Amino acid sequence: MLKTIGREIHKMHAFLRFRERPEGAGDPRFVAWFEPAHDVLPQAASHFARRMGYASWLIATPEATAAWDGKRLQFGPPSAQGPLDIDDAGERLWLTYYRSTFNPARLNTQVMELNMPVRYWKNMPEARLIPELISHAAAGAQRTAQTETVGARRGVAVQIRAEEAQPQRAAAHALESCRRCNLWCHATQAVPGVGPKQARIMLVGEQPGDQEDLAGLPFVGPAGQLLDRALAQAGIGRETVYVTNAVKHFKWEPRGKRRLHKTPAQLEIDACMTWLEQEIAECDPVVIVTLGSTALKSVMHAPRITMQAVAGTILRRGSCMVVPTWHPSFILRTADRARQQSAFDDLVEALQNARDGAIQDDRS
Ligand code: URA
Repeated sequence: MLKTIGREIHKMHAFLRFRERPEGAGDPRFVAWFEPAHDVLPQAASHFARRMGYASWLIATPEATAAWDGKRLQFGPPSAQGPLDIDDAGERLWLTYYRSTFNPARLNTQVMELNMPVRYWKNMPEARLIPELISHAAAGAQRTAQTETVGARRGVAVQIRAEEAQPQRAAAHALESCRRCNLWCHATQAVPGVGPKQARIMLVGEQPGDQEDLAGLPFVGPAGQLLDRALAQAGIGRETVYVTNAVKHFKWEPRGKRRLHKTPAQLEIDACMTWLEQEIAECDPVVIVTLGSTALKSVMHAPRITMQAVAGTILRRGSCMVVPTWHPSFILRTADRARQQSAFDDLVEALQNARDGAIQDDRS
């Protein structure tokens, strides 16, 4: 019996996941929901009180709650609320980390389930990723995942069958397996364009942001919301346009718990151009709206072109009209209210020009 209880305390230490409440929400700063098989909350709670220092937290179980205010531990009746759904940036970062450190070559599902029994999974955010990661491993990653890192060690030869050998930066068959530059290493996934393939208007942004990287969709975060407002004001339904980015992987650097956007280098824009060109060829839009300078450089194949030089003008790329305008994130970052409004108006005007150009076009 002692062993069983001891093991359950250990599991609670290992598998309990705190979520951080939004800034300004007050105490407790962290909350967690856990369903232990035995009544081990008091023992496990004292461990967290020691570990979390002055940070306040609350752990809720179906039987009781434990709360720490940074000084005192208090136990109370169960909370009626159950698990809370909190959008926690730290948790998103943890999922990205978990995904990128999951080693398919070492995967042994039996051992994994022995160490991390499935009954804990439903309250562990990373467990949602496991089925997909296992299926990738089964689909081949298990054989090849470590070849690059092991092969890079001095004096180590990695044997692979000739038919599986592939030069490191060769053209990838699908966007998801693109290794043309290194951005894939730290991104959750590649984010392709979205929209009807016969769309007359194509919007091209820079690269997926934090939320786009997690969702796998372009322009779903704050910049996307601003873009939606501008599209509505210009009388364009978002579902009628094709929305994509010049670069398909999120480039970022850590800042505390946050992943901060980093502008892609010209090398990365060039490496990704093949995907954008494929999208343009497939969609064959009448008008391309470039949002910001990365998109402009990529669409016009002109690394030196600047937004300042072409803002408010209309360019051409073969038979296609190109409307350069500001990036929604640039508008969001503009601190001066009047300038922000004027940049937003420019964006709406550019979209209106695109709409008019698409209507006037007499291609079939
Ligand atoms: N910024 C972009 O350029 N693209 C997105 O998809 C999101 C933010």
